Amino acid sequence: MALTTKFTEAFGVTHPIAQGGMQWVGRAELVAAVANAGALGFITALTQPTPADLANEIARCRDLTDKPFGVNLTILPSINPPPYDEYRQVIVDSGVKIVETAGSNPAPHLPMFHDNGIKVLHKCTSVRHAVKAQSLGVDGISIDGFECAGHPGEDDIPGLVLIPAAADKIEIPMIASGGFADGRGLAAALALGADGINMGSRFMCTVESSIHQNVKEAIVAGDERGTELIFRTLHNTARVASNKVSREVVEILNKGGQFEDVKDLVAGVRGRKVFENGDVDAGIWTVGTAMGLIDDIPTVQDLVTRIVRDAEVLISGRLLNMISADEPDAEKETVPA
Ligand SMILES: Cc1cc2nc3c(=O)[nH]c(=O)nc-3n(C[C@H](O)[C@H](O)[C@H](O)COP(=O)(O)O)c2cc1C
Repeated sequence: MALTTKFTEAFGVTHPIAQGGMQWVGRAELVAAVANAGALGFITALTQPTPADLANEIARCRDLTDKPFGVNLTILPSINPPPYDEYRQVIVDSGVKIVETAGSNPAPHLPMFHDNGIKVLHKCTSVRHAVKAQSLGVDGISIDGFECAGHPGEDDIPGLVLIPAAADKIEIPMIASGGFADGRGLAAALALGADGINMGSRFMCTVESSIHQNVKEAIVAGDERGTELIFRTLHNTARVASNKVSREVVEILNKGGQFEDVKDLVAGVRGRKVFENGDVDAGIWTVGTAMGLIDDIPTVQDLVTRIVRDAEVLISGRLLNMISADEPDAEKETVPA
């Protein structure tokens, strides 16, 4: 059995599951494992220090899988922006055929990707941005609810409303993210009108994810309350693990502090050390409320198989069985004129 959707058909994958870009986590081993399991993984371009390193990482991933995979290009406002054009050129030259854009309007990048036969899955956190991206001609939407790890936007709309509201307006393939971790989530996303799910936190906590074992164990030990929303007052909200550093950042900003006051606490190099050294209090690290649904560290293959199987069992079993056999005859119920 398999779950075939507009997403699996358009992006050429077996299962309606994606592993979105993850800074410091979306590396070749994880992405290849996701591809080999029949889902769609994305190498995170900016995890690679230079465009040339990205080319090597894509080549490494190719050595590990012959299935399709993509590259995430996250475009965020920055004082010293990375050379986006050069990363984009590497993606084109590498022959990768799927890109996940995120962070801002994908318009400047679309012509070059499309001219080279690359499909663009644009990730955004609001219906209006999804509608805008659809009108620009992207090939798929990834709609990210308030539950998600990373940047949930400023509207605070959880998936239960965001997904069907987006589905009402989006005609191209659309996957949903934020808080998905199991077969129940996949079945729910499909019921809400999505064509699949995108997961970050859940894939972070697998055997093939390259982060330190301590971080994976902290995710397993944590629950759905274990995150903080930092940068709220700066209108650049990010959902990250609750720890000494993130709580201090929230406190400083809530007292009227500015970015300068927390700059050292939130330094990317500290967050990276968490993943490398396993000291979960060393800096800011990203995870979502899905933490409350993550209880183990499976292989990617076992995880994908389990999610799809559980969703299928749920749809064809529990949900189908709820439809009562002695359903009242609709005509008899009608009030006579
Ligand atoms: C450690 C980590 C790093 C992330 N970094 C990025 C990133 O660089 N670019 C991006 O578009 N999304 C990033 N995300 C968001 C994920 O791609 C995905 O949209 C999100 O995790 C979905 O929510 P979930 O964690 O509840 O599954 C990151 C997520 C995690 C957990």
